[in-house]
Amino acid sequence: MNVLVTGGAGYIGSHTCKALALAGHNPVTYDNLCMGHEWAVKWGPLEVGDISNQTRLRHVINKHKIDSFMHFAAFAYVGESMIAPSKYFVNNIAGTTILLDEIINSGINKFVFSSTCATYGIPSSLPIDETLPANPVNPYGQSKLSIEAQLRWLGDLVGLRWIALRYFNAAGADSAGEVGEAHDPETHLIPLALKAAAPGDFYLSVYGNDYPTDDGTAIRDYIHVEDLACAHVKALGALIDHPVNDFLNLGTGVGVSVQQVINTVAAVTGYMPRHQFSPRRPGDPPELVANSTKAKRVLGWAPSKSTIDVIVADAWQWYKKSIL
Ligand SMILES: NC(=O)c1ccc[n+]([C@@H]2O[C@H](COP(=O)([O-])OP(=O)(O)OC[C@H]3O[C@@H](n4cnc5c(N)ncnc54)[C@H](O)[C@@H]3O)[C@@H](O)[C@H]2O)c1
Repeated sequence: MNVLVTGGAGYIGSHTCKALALAGHNPVTYDNLCMGHEWAVKWGPLEVGDISNQTRLRHVINKHKIDSFMHFAAFAYVGESMIAPSKYFVNNIAGTTILLDEIINSGINKFVFSSTCATYGIPSSLPIDETLPANPVNPYGQSKLSIEAQLRWLGDLVGLRWIALRYFNAAGADSAGEVGEAHDPETHLIPLALKAAAPGDFYLSVYGNDYPTDDGTAIRDYIHVEDLACAHVKALGALIDHPVNDFLNLGTGVGVSVQQVINTVAAVTGYMPRHQFSPRRPGDPPELVANSTKAKRVLGWAPSKSTIDVIVADAWQWYKKSIL
């Protein structure tokens, strides 16, 4: 397939381009480079453009004979979305609405979408499965849920085949060291903990050590970025066969606390990350852990690299190569 990968110059998109190429597909990155990196586009051509530029999209779709889409392009900082909500509504919702209009106009009907566990908000039970109500507690999560609603209508009314993948915490890096995480600003725990373990004076802020968890720190479900990339390739394969038209959780089902991440970073790097405890952030749930049974059933997917030891080791390998 000739796959247009929006946001392919970003973290998860670039790893997925590698997985697509290894599976025999032709990934064409479409990215405005507002957050992504030209150096991360290694497994197919880069077309610079914005998802809201319909003319440019049409040109690129025709030029590369695109027949399917993976849509990663978005703003993805939860905290920023609380301060600048309309920035998220414009880029994530309005941008995607325009993109989807062009996809429908072009007669393309396969669409894999980067959704998020932030669609659930604060879950009423754990682990989180797809039957739990979606109740986002920030504009970022709301923006993704709103796109899922559009996908449902487009599937029902104009034949779009779609899968929305609700990732939990993407982490780690390409195990061959060819690409990795490079957000600016970085807000994710593992690269920040690595920075706090590396030489320098950076201190990791740990928000809350009084949660009702074994060590008092918050628990999350970390999924290796290569396992996410693999799920995307399988999602595309499923859409080639039939319309799935559903949303699926991607996580491991194993919760890891912030303190456990810090201890793992210390074990992998040989240095305890400098850290300090700060008050909890409003809206941060104590624990988010996925039930991904549905993704296993629908896609035949299961994570194979998502232990915290492997995730941190791969992230550290990338950190040493790219930053130190
Ligand atoms: N990283 C995570 O833990 C996580 C978890 C759940 C969901 N997601 C979702 O996965 C996707 C990828 O996340 P990421 O961590 O790789 O983010 P990222 O910021 O590394 O990548 C996003 C890419 O999209 C591009 N982009 C943004 N707006 C654009 C626009 N209007 N037109 C063209 N390109 C644009 C950016 O330049 C960047 O390269 C996002 O949709 C995010 O919401 C990420």
